[in-house]
Amino acid sequence: MTKQNPGFGAALVACHGAMAAAERVALVTGATGAMGRAIVDRLANKGSGVVITDRDSAQLEAFARELFEGHGVPVIAIAADLLNVDAVQAMVPLIDAHAGRLDHLVNNAGLNRPQSLEEATLDDWEAVFAINLRVPMLLAKAAIPLWRRQGGGAIVNIGSRVWLSGAVPAYTASKAGLVGLTRSLAVELGPIGVTANVVAPSFVDTPFTRQNRSQDEIAAMHARALEISPVPRLGRAEDIAGTVAFLLSPDASYITGEVIHVCGGAQMAARSTNPVKVMEG
Ligand SMILES: NC(=O)c1ccc[n+]([C@@H]2O[C@H](COP(=O)([O-])OP(=O)(O)OC[C@H]3O[C@@H](n4cnc5c(N)ncnc54)[C@H](O)[C@@H]3O)[C@@H](O)[C@H]2O)c1
Repeated sequence: MTKQNPGFGAALVACHGAMAAAERVALVTGATGAMGRAIVDRLANKGSGVVITDRDSAQLEAFARELFEGHGVPVIAIAADLLNVDAVQAMVPLIDAHAGRLDHLVNNAGLNRPQSLEEATLDDWEAVFAINLRVPMLLAKAAIPLWRRQGGGAIVNIGSRVWLSGAVPAYTASKAGLVGLTRSLAVELGPIGVTANVVAPSFVDTPFTRQNRSQDEIAAMHARALEISPVPRLGRAEDIAGTVAFLLSPDASYITGEVIHVCGGAQMAARSTNPVKVMEG
């Protein structure tokens, strides 16, 4: 284990195993969140070296140890506040210095400040766009020289079903923008062997969806999620992780610019809660 702070707001807080010997290396943002943990766990289980990043050093250190001891894969943990542009821009050079490669980029960190447009401040709007759209753009941009050098890579951006249905303005617009960014990346980076896709969940019960909500409000969200999903259960972080792992695998090397909704078919509902009425005769 080494510890050092390279400055620029991104701090290496854990380094286990020989990352330079890893066949492939994946960076996952928001790694100690609910979906982040499930995604990292799935990738580590498949033998990938993992670079985990989030804000809380202690949580990262504990998760890094757990991953290394549980899966035997090399792990690097970087603490960073992704609202800080310098921290984001320090990330890929830091990975290059310690791992010598980066194959997979999973932009999973997300921010929602669920105010209506009337209530939202410019700061809310900019913070949501910074995490949900600026960070994926900056990390992909920084990784391009490594992907050129290695001859390819893959990006999965975690979007949201709301890009289709509409919801809180900043969050919805940022996730819709993420689809546009992903398609641009698919076009620009396809020729150098990089695929770019979006995985779009709907409701999954995590700290993200619970923020500032009462038990009654959460129960109402459960009910609505069940109402609009043809598959009669709530989504799980593991559902998202499985799709991310597939899109990063060789089996998905001919899939790019795609949005895969992992929400039991709820993407077909748009805002509607009315059951389809079958006309007779
Ligand atoms: N939970 C859902 O129902 C749902 C639905 C659709 C899309 N999503 C998307 O899934 C992704 C993961 O969500 P989750 O439910 O696991 O949420 P979560 O809150 O459990 O995890 C999000 C992670 O992002 C990190 N993060 C946020 N701001 C950061 C910052 N400034 N710097 C560094 N890290 C930061 C948080 O620390 C957290 O660990 C997000 O992109 C979210 O928009 C979630």
